[in-house]
This record gives sequence, C-alpha cells and structure tokens, in this order.
Amino acid sequence: MQDQSANFKGIPAEVFRNRRERVLEELGDGAMVLPAAPILYRSRDSQLPYRPDSELFYLTGFSEPESLLVLRGFAEEERAVLFVRPRDSTAEQWSGSRLGPDRARERFSVDAAHPIDEMGSRLPGLLSHARRVHFRLGRHRQVEGLVVQALEEARSRGSRKGRGPRSVVDPGEILDELRLRKGPEEIAALREAVRVTVEGFRAALAATAPGRGEWQLQAELEAAFRREGAQGPAFATIVGSGANACTLHYVANSHELGPDDLVLLDAGAEVRMYAGDITRTFPAGGTFSPPQRAVYEVVEAARIAAVEQIRPGVTIQDAHDAAVRVLTEGLMELGVLSGSVDELIQRKAHRTYFPHRTSHWLGLDTHDPGDYIRDGEHRRLEPGMVLTVEPGLYFVPASVEDGEGAAEPDHPYEGIGVRIEDDVLVTSDGAEVLTRALPTDADEIAAMVGGR
Ligand code: GLY
Ligand code: MN
Ligand code: MN
Repeated sequence: MQDQSANFKGIPAEVFRNRRERVLEELGDGAMVLPAAPILYRSRDSQLPYRPDSELFYLTGFSEPESLLVLRGFAEEERAVLFVRPRDSTAEQWSGSRLGPDRARERFSVDAAHPIDEMGSRLPGLLSHARRVHFRLGRHRQVEGLVVQALEEARSRGSRKGRGPRSVVDPGEILDELRLRKGPEEIAALREAVRVTVEGFRAALAATAPGRGEWQLQAELEAAFRREGAQGPAFATIVGSGANACTLHYVANSHELGPDDLVLLDAGAEVRMYAGDITRTFPAGGTFSPPQRAVYEVVEAARIAAVEQIRPGVTIQDAHDAAVRVLTEGLMELGVLSGSVDELIQRKAHRTYFPHRTSHWLGLDTHDPGDYIRDGEHRRLEPGMVLTVEPGLYFVPASVEDGEGAAEPDHPYEGIGVRIEDDVLVTSDGAEVLTRALPTDADEIAAMVGGR
C-alpha cells in the first residue's frame, strides 16, 4: 500500500493551506485554475516518470496526475476546490492507489473535492462570478476550452447581469512572487537536495579516471542520488570531458575521458520536489595542466567575487557584474583579450567565452520562476531567496580562432571549458553557500578525483 502521506513530501498540510490563503487574498475578485502536469510518453505507450506540476504542488502538496485546483477569491464558499481521479480498483491495480475525492478533501483540507470527470460540467459554473481567471494559456487544451466557455458565457450575459470573467491572467503574476521567497520547509528541502547532490558528486569524483566513460560518472552520480533518497536528477546530467565541456547543454555523456581532459559535471538531485544544481570541473587524471589551472583560477575568482556580492539589497545584476569584471580581467591576464578593462566590459567582450548569465533562481524548478527585473529595475535580493552562482569560461575551438586578442589557432586554452556552480541562500545579513561542503578550490577538488 502506497504511503499517501508521502504526497506532502514532509511538509505539513498547514503550510499548503496558508499558501492558498495568501493566494486567495491576492486573487480578490478573481479565480485561479491550475491543472496537473500531463502524463508524458517517451515512446508509444511507455510513460516517462510522472513529475507533478510545481505550481499545483506548491499550493496543495497533491501529486497525482489528472487533477485540477480551482481557487475562488471572490466566493464565500467553496473557495478551494480540488478535482481528482475517482477511486477505481482496476485502474489502481495497474498504476497505483488513488486518493479519491473524499479522502482528498479531508487530507488536503480543501472546501470541496470532485471526480475529475465532473470538471467539464462544474468548472464554467465555478468561474461564473470571477472577474478574472488566472490560467496559463496554451498548456492544457481541455481546461482551456472550459475557461474560454466561462468567458464566453460571461460576455453573452454580462450586459444583463454585469458579472463574470473578462480577462485571463497568468498564474505566475501571483505565484512567482510567493515562490521567490522560500519558507523554512522549502529551505530544508533545498538543503537536503544539495546534500544528496554533493553525495552524487563525491561518488562521481571517486569514479573518475582516464579511460572511464562520461556515462559511468553519470551512473555513479545518479545511483548515489537514488540511494540517498532523491527522486532522481532534477535535470539532464551533464558530464562533459575535454571540449565537450564547451557545449553548454551537453547531455550525450558518451565519450571516454582522456588522460589530459578536464571534466565538467553539472547535475542536481531532486528531493521532495526541490532541485539542487551544482557544477564542478576537475582533471580526469587528478592534475590540472598549467593552462587548465590558469583558466580554472579565473573562474574560481569570479565565483568568489559574485558570492561576495550577495546579501539583501543587492541585485543579481550586481553579482553578474562582479563576475564579469573578474572574468574580463582574467581573460586579459590569459592574453585572450586586450585593451581597457572598462571598454571591454562595456562592449561585453567576455560573451565569446562566457555566453550565459551568472545566476538563476532555484527551488521547485531548477530555473525557478520570478522576474529578475520589475518595473524596469533590477530586483533587490531579500532573505529567503535562493539562487545559483555559476560563472564559466569556454574556449570553443572556433571561438578562439574567431575571437579577439591572442587568437592563435593553437591557443593553449582551446577546448578548455570550466564552470563552477554553487547554490546560495540569501540570509538576513548576507549569504549562505548551501553547497560549501563540496570544495571549489582547485587543489581540493583535484584531490577528490579517483577517490584519493
Ligand atoms: N544545469 C542547468 C543550470 O546550471 O542552469
Ligand atoms: Mn544552474
Ligand atoms: Mn547547473
């Protein structure tokens, strides 16, 4: 018998109820409709492992597919209504137990719960007195059709009764802001995701040696993820040896490690729905060559400079700017760029070698939602926000040849890719590097290679 309390992923039901109360308040005279994530197929009738929708999970803790949450800020009764799969002994024998409407209402303390097959007959009525519907367009055709029906019904009788939904707004307008500020139970889940991710890295580092396959490092890492209680990877694991490290989303993981290669490992465990996201770069043979070390030290200095920026009141742009300055100065020291540092920064000369941003939000999603710019201004960090810091330098062979400055075809940095990524919690007076248990220092990380 499946343990249904696992649906809460260790978070008290009250936390979800409080979140719903906040959303109901913000909805005012509007409503919100959140369908479950679809069941996805990898091929023909083989299903991919089910991943509940982050927003629906955030507001309910409910993790079964084929469900729907309706929040009605305008209503006196039935303010939170859940649609779930009905009990069905045959279906449950094939694909596991279902909570069913009665138990779902009780356990998730919603005002009403109905079988999902009553969605079509009930949803337009539930929305008929909302002024706005917060619903994500283009994702769920059937639910979208019902939202459109509610809008059409409101338009046709609106002139007589003067009510009903007139506009559709993205749920992210309310939810993204809430999700940006993590509560204690979310921070606990993130700490656990980070702990498991670090265990995975230890296992992969111990298994690293020239001649091993990138896929074997992935296997060791992901085995540790599962062993330590993760659902699995939060995103496709990247194990890029040699020049593969320069392909930012390299996920084939199909090459053998060469004796002189660096290995870039970017991975994260998903624990209780929350994601870790770490990158480390290390020498396959346990020793950095001088050019590899030179590049590594620049990236590590940029990481330190960015992390030092992080505290309440600063912006992600401030951390990015700090990283870019150190990377630009480093590229000059490496002989890759030349000129005035301010002029190079101003024309973004680093972009050939550092084409991505330094940070993103982290949480239920690896790239967690939340505007980086609000009303034309960079958002200031607040305690409880969690972000990555992940500067890198990538000397794609072609970029060295086409690049500026010392662009020799046999450039010593050609084919080197380094990224170092930490996860950082903004605290009341600064920052906590959640991933600090895994070294970033060149000698310390190299010493972990091959289990030494
Ligand atoms: N692995 C995805 C990222 O670092 O953003
Ligand atoms: Mn990241
Ligand atoms: Mn990453």
